[in-house]
Amino acid sequence: MSVQRVSHHLLLCATPINAKCCNPEEGLATWNELKRLVKELGLEKSDRPEGLVLRSKVDCLRICEKGPVLLVWPDGIWYSDVTSDKIKKIIYQHIINHKPVQQWVLKKLPFMTTHPTTN
Ligand code: FES
Repeated sequence: MSVQRVSHHLLLCATPINAKCCNPEEGLATWNELKRLVKELGLEKSDRPEGLVLRSKVDCLRICEKGPVLLVWPDGIWYSDVTSDKIKKIIYQHIINHKPVQQWVLKKLPFMTTHPTTN
């Protein structure tokens, strides 16, 4: 059995039902650009040496302002105001080159790496 590895999971609050953090049209544009880039750059290929990049559109990340809000795991970094023109820089700089775009980071809350299930 082959084991797939995951490098990142991107969760985007793009089209919240209650529209608390962003205009759903703006969020949808970001989501569509995120999907396009992940596919175009081969980040979701199962044989990617660095691991898969997973993406999920979620309804709320409990920030509820300055959206669209993007949460990047395993780094635990929340980005705010992630419009479709910003997502490309986040993917290239953070996801591919491992350097978060500090000026857009809203907060950072990483996993505890000493937890027994993460070792
Ligand atoms: S509605 Fe987007 S974070 Fe809550």
